[in-house]
Amino acid sequence: MVNGTLCRTPSSSSRRTTPNFSSPRGGGSSGLHRKHPIWSHAGYVSVISVTLLVASFIFVICSLLYLCFYRNLIQTNSLFDSKSDSDRRNNPIVLAENVSTVADCDIFDGSWIFSNAHPLYNSSTCPFTERGFNCLKNGRKDTDYMRLRWKPHGCDIPQFNATAVLEKLRGKRVVFVGDSMSRTQWESMICMLMIGVEDPRSVYEVNGNGISKTIRFLSVRFQTFNLTVEFFRSVYLLQQGVSTPTNRGPKRVRSTIKLDQLDDVSKSWVNSDILIFNSGHWWTYKKLFYTGCYFQVGESLKLGLPITTAFRTMLQTWASWVKSTVNTTRTHVFFRTFEPSHWSEEGGGKVCDVTEQPMKDPKGNDQSEEFSGIISDVITSMMVPATVLNVTSMGAYRSDAHIGNWSYSPLVVDCSHWCLPGVPDAWNELVFSHLTAQN
Ligand SMILES: *[C@@H]1O[C@H](CO)[C@@H](O)[C@H](O)[C@H]1NC(C)=O
Ligand SMILES: *[C@@H]1O[C@H](CO)[C@@H](O)[C@H](O)[C@H]1NC(C)=O
Ligand SMILES: *[C@@H]1O[C@H](CO)[C@@H](O)[C@H](O)[C@H]1NC(C)=O
Ligand SMILES: *[C@@H]1O[C@H](CO)[C@@H](O)[C@H](O)[C@H]1NC(C)=O
Ligand SMILES: *[C@@H]1O[C@H](CO)[C@@H](O)[C@H](O)[C@H]1NC(C)=O
Ligand SMILES: *[C@@H]1O[C@H](CO)[C@@H](O)[C@H](O)[C@H]1NC(C)=O
Ligand SMILES: *[C@@H]1O[C@H](CO)[C@@H](O)[C@H](O)[C@H]1NC(C)=O
Repeated sequence: MVNGTLCRTPSSSSRRTTPNFSSPRGGGSSGLHRKHPIWSHAGYVSVISVTLLVASFIFVICSLLYLCFYRNLIQTNSLFDSKSDSDRRNNPIVLAENVSTVADCDIFDGSWIFSNAHPLYNSSTCPFTERGFNCLKNGRKDTDYMRLRWKPHGCDIPQFNATAVLEKLRGKRVVFVGDSMSRTQWESMICMLMIGVEDPRSVYEVNGNGISKTIRFLSVRFQTFNLTVEFFRSVYLLQQGVSTPTNRGPKRVRSTIKLDQLDDVSKSWVNSDILIFNSGHWWTYKKLFYTGCYFQVGESLKLGLPITTAFRTMLQTWASWVKSTVNTTRTHVFFRTFEPSHWSEEGGGKVCDVTEQPMKDPKGNDQSEEFSGIISDVITSMMVPATVLNVTSMGAYRSDAHIGNWSYSPLVVDCSHWCLPGVPDAWNELVFSHLTAQN
């Protein structure tokens, strides 16, 4: 059963925090015995004062110890009281620590457990999942991969309720920006929300466009709720250029990415309520230098610049843009970290073996940790009012959740993208739990 293999008992269960009161008390009383000779030599007055002194000293120590112990009990009890019985049974040690709600627990540190509430929707009845992500429709037979939910170790995320979330998002504008992973999350969010919509015809793409891999802009409107959920394709988040006489370098340079200039389309991102970014999968040698695409800052080419350094520069440009352009009182900005892939190397070729169950330990593609670290680092050091949506570790467990050969064309094998319903739904659950915790 999925539950048994995945629901890891919290590592903290071996940490016992009961304070050990016996040794200091024992030490105190043996000290008193050694003072016995005083009785036989001293006058009554001094005997009484010494006794009183010692007695009050013991009294003070005992009171202090008692207070410590008592306060500890109160604190533990009040945390227990706010939790259900089942939580007490499952996780008593974690609750005794100071983490009980999403607001103060690391929601990105957890495990995947079996859930009766999942999948949250059916891709075959939601018009907004593209065929390539609908693994069941493309022939996948096992279904455990759709029945898992993310459980942070220190708390629980609220169960997703489409009606309640739609109410919260009434009159709002949600914008996703990034590569195909953003598009997947965008599709996932629309399908999750459509569960709470009575008339599916009231949900439509505003320009009548269908979903495609290269389309630059898609906007789905939930008419009843005056809500739009939009996607902008911008894989580097930056403005791209062609090689011009002023910046012309070696012949191999065919196009450039301007590290100091955000994508022109960025002006359309600002007046939004929720803004979710990602970038990373296109920052590879194969997609950049191999195709003749190099970095540029100002008018000068940066031919030798390492990709990770350029990625950091991009984030700094992005961070300055958020600070100077986005009204973060209104707009909640998220940056999603790198989604790990599960390709393996065999005999020089890349192999994609999709498993039926997640892995016991998070093991994704190496690059993911480095890129995610840079994202987190820049956002923290530049004090950007943005939330890092750290999905790297949670995705690293999910060797079972990729598309594999259940894409639209079975010739394409894919260990990077995820089936829908699946992992991207959990990213959205985290977004919603974040917004709930804020209010
Ligand atoms: C416990 O929580 C309180 C308030 O929620 C916080 O001020 C305090 O720092 C926390 N203590 C620890 C040890 O995390
Ligand atoms: C993401 O979360 C995991 C699990 O809590 C943690 O190990 C990792 O350091 C985090 N990464 C970043 C970039 O914050
Ligand atoms: C999804 O809907 C289709 C079409 O109605 C149906 O055939 C299929 O059994 C459903 N799948 C699940 C997992 O419920
Ligand atoms: C979902 O939210 C709606 C509106 O807040 C509420 O009426 C309904 O009871 C909730 N459903 C569940 C299963 O909690
Ligand atoms: C829809 O929401 C926008 C804000 O996003 C608001 O300006 C507009 O008045 C709303 N329209 C209706 C019909 O409520
Ligand atoms: C930023 O958004 C808040 C909340 O919507 C609004 O009250 C404020 O006027 C906005 N500030 C600017 C400069 O537009
Ligand atoms: C897809 O992969 C599975 C194992 O992952 C294999 O059993 C199946 O035959 C493959 N299907 C095709 C069409 O290659």
